[in-house]
Amino acid sequence: MSSFRRPGHSPILLSALSALLLTAMPVMALSRDTIYKDPARPTEERVRDLMGRMTLEEKVGQMCQYVGLEHMRSSAYEVPPEEIKKSHSKGFYADFPPEVIERMTEEGIIGSFLHVLNPEEANHLQGLAARSRLGIPLLIGIYAIHGNALVEGSTVYPTPIGQATAFDADLVREISRQTALEMRATGMHLSFTPNLEVARDARWGRVGETFGEDPYLVGIMGAATIEGLQFSSEDVTRIVSACAKHLVGGSQPVNGINGAPFDVSERTLREVFLPPFQEAVKAGVWTMMPAHNEYNGVPCHANRYLMDEVVRKRWRFDGYYVSDWMDIERMHDYHRTARDNNEAFLQTVEAGMDMHMHGPDFYYGILELVRSGRIAEERIDRSVEMILGMKFELGLFENPYVDTDAARGFLFNDQHRQTALEAAHKGIVLLKNDGILPLDPAKYRKVLVTGPNATDQALLGDWSGRQPDGNVVTVWDGINAYADRLDLALCEFGWNLRAMDPAQVDHAVELAAESDLAIVVVGENSMRYHWKEKTCGENSDRYDLSLVGLQQQLVERIHATGIPTVVVLINGRPLGTEWIADNIPAVIEAWEPGSMGGRAVAEIVMGEVNPSGKLPVTIPRHAGQIQTYYNYRFTSKWFDYATGDSAPLYEFGYGLSYTTYEYSDVELSARSILPGTSLTASVTVTNTGTMAGEEIVQMYLTQECASVTRPVKELRGFRRIALSPGESRRVEFTVTPDDMSLWNADMLYTIEPGDFTVSIGPSSHDRDLRQARFTVR
Ligand code: BGC
Repeated sequence: MSSFRRPGHSPILLSALSALLLTAMPVMALSRDTIYKDPARPTEERVRDLMGRMTLEEKVGQMCQYVGLEHMRSSAYEVPPEEIKKSHSKGFYADFPPEVIERMTEEGIIGSFLHVLNPEEANHLQGLAARSRLGIPLLIGIYAIHGNALVEGSTVYPTPIGQATAFDADLVREISRQTALEMRATGMHLSFTPNLEVARDARWGRVGETFGEDPYLVGIMGAATIEGLQFSSEDVTRIVSACAKHLVGGSQPVNGINGAPFDVSERTLREVFLPPFQEAVKAGVWTMMPAHNEYNGVPCHANRYLMDEVVRKRWRFDGYYVSDWMDIERMHDYHRTARDNNEAFLQTVEAGMDMHMHGPDFYYGILELVRSGRIAEERIDRSVEMILGMKFELGLFENPYVDTDAARGFLFNDQHRQTALEAAHKGIVLLKNDGILPLDPAKYRKVLVTGPNATDQALLGDWSGRQPDGNVVTVWDGINAYADRLDLALCEFGWNLRAMDPAQVDHAVELAAESDLAIVVVGENSMRYHWKEKTCGENSDRYDLSLVGLQQQLVERIHATGIPTVVVLINGRPLGTEWIADNIPAVIEAWEPGSMGGRAVAEIVMGEVNPSGKLPVTIPRHAGQIQTYYNYRFTSKWFDYATGDSAPLYEFGYGLSYTTYEYSDVELSARSILPGTSLTASVTVTNTGTMAGEEIVQMYLTQECASVTRPVKELRGFRRIALSPGESRRVEFTVTPDDMSLWNADMLYTIEPGDFTVSIGPSSHDRDLRQARFTVR
């Protein structure tokens, strides 16, 4: 196996040493014509050989990414030119129509595309690249964050917030492995995922893309994603590059607005926002993407402190940077830290940027900057070596094309569907149950299913295209599979939450009055193909967290009929559903559960599957409680608010089951340890109910007193365990020196002696935790 695929040892960055060795090696005796095309040669050699043949234009071209031809055509049709500059979802180049981009590809001055959404187009583009002077294949990128969901016919897994809810890193690794396979089958090689942002503002529309609010959990799930995408196979045609993003803090923008400034202390940056990125570098991530926003007054795309000093030098990231969508240009027209695009290009390259997303301006700008001596050609070489290295290591020179028929047969196959179902089962959280679930058909025979998210594809979440209806099990489809046991009625609303018909609400209420029970499916809509109507997802930020449209009215009026009501939430951000929590007897948080989501919801409602998901974010009551997260400081709750309830609606780590678990006998392997040593914490967990289930056991750590303020508790371990009724299991966690470390007042990472409390239980809420104390001497 090439060292390229060993975590933390990516050789895509040629070291000066290997470059020196190469010039002296006897292989130079071989015909230069064959070296870079010879798969038997080491990557370093192939890169060096190829680089030696390339013109400046060909090199700079490798740094440039363009949207796909079909994407350009449809965008030019759908979006007026004056809007395209601002668009985050559509792209075309007024002076560079698809025919010109095709010609440039043949000329070998384009290195990469994104949003090439079908294998035929991918093959077509690779064919053009093959005709270029050196025949360098294209690297094709896509944002495949929960399956390759933008591509029609792919398996759509739960969005990352729902994946994190399962607290199961093996599952996330497997989802990512399958995603890589579906990507390669359709001609794609670089996934702009994982999103490692730590979600701390529910108003921000992209919370669903994250693994939640806890840096430790985000780091583990992010590393699992990277491993699944990059390292799951020895066969290079079955893996893709991951991309850790967005560096950093896009998840805590001022007022929750995507791209607005990220303004936190250095302490918060180091304690909360950077650790997942460091985990990604440790996991060997091959690419990284800066964030739209600024940090400390400097746009992240030109932030040398972040990109170079911290990530590249301190952590030794040896992959390459890819910019986010037009964000380099935005340093000129939005951030106003560059007088023109060329100044922005210069700034970003000086900070360490290697590849531009997207369009021709960067190409011409960089050529001008190199020719005028403002950027050295050696600097360009460094980026191009890494990009070419990746193309070799992914086997693109040998396998640029895909079998289009085989691809179609492979997507959404049985195994992948099964994983999507398992992920949905594990990622659904039972928030409340006054005893009506699991649903007893003998008691509740006549069941009404209604609500705008019951019947359409909102459950696929953001970064999904419209999928064939036959590939999507909606909640209605899922419940309808039990039509032999239930007498079902459906009242539909269409997909548009903003345009719910009041007459349909009346109709739903009439139907409810004749039913024994209602299942009302409400929440958010992240469908990006309804860009202007969606309420959640990219660039759909909100200043309030209540239900949009007539959804609240629908729930309240159905409840007022007096029939038991189950609310199912389908949403990509926490929703402040206080009234529902107070009044509705059963509430299910399904997040955006993907292709098989409706079946998973139905199987949980019917009791065929015992719910086990736990919240990876704290749910606030309303936007006024932002920020609400579990790892707050001791003074954060000094006083209660003068009105209303100050506690969150649901705590981090919370989630119910149809069975009950008892935690007992928390023990530590030592009561007193030396700094730099570990100890073991253990607990017995017993299934005290009548149904088999899976429990997520959580371990938190608190430093009781330190020279700087510390969080009241921090997650430091979790384990998902299966228990039959009556079964007990001893669960062990290791508390490592790293777990006990802090950034002191001088910003040194160290362990301060003192008392620590280990808390173990089923959620982060104090009432749920069993504790034991130890001292670092
Ligand atoms: C998003 C990125 C994404 C890119 C390409 C941008 O709008 O911010 O996260 O990778 O689009 O899809």
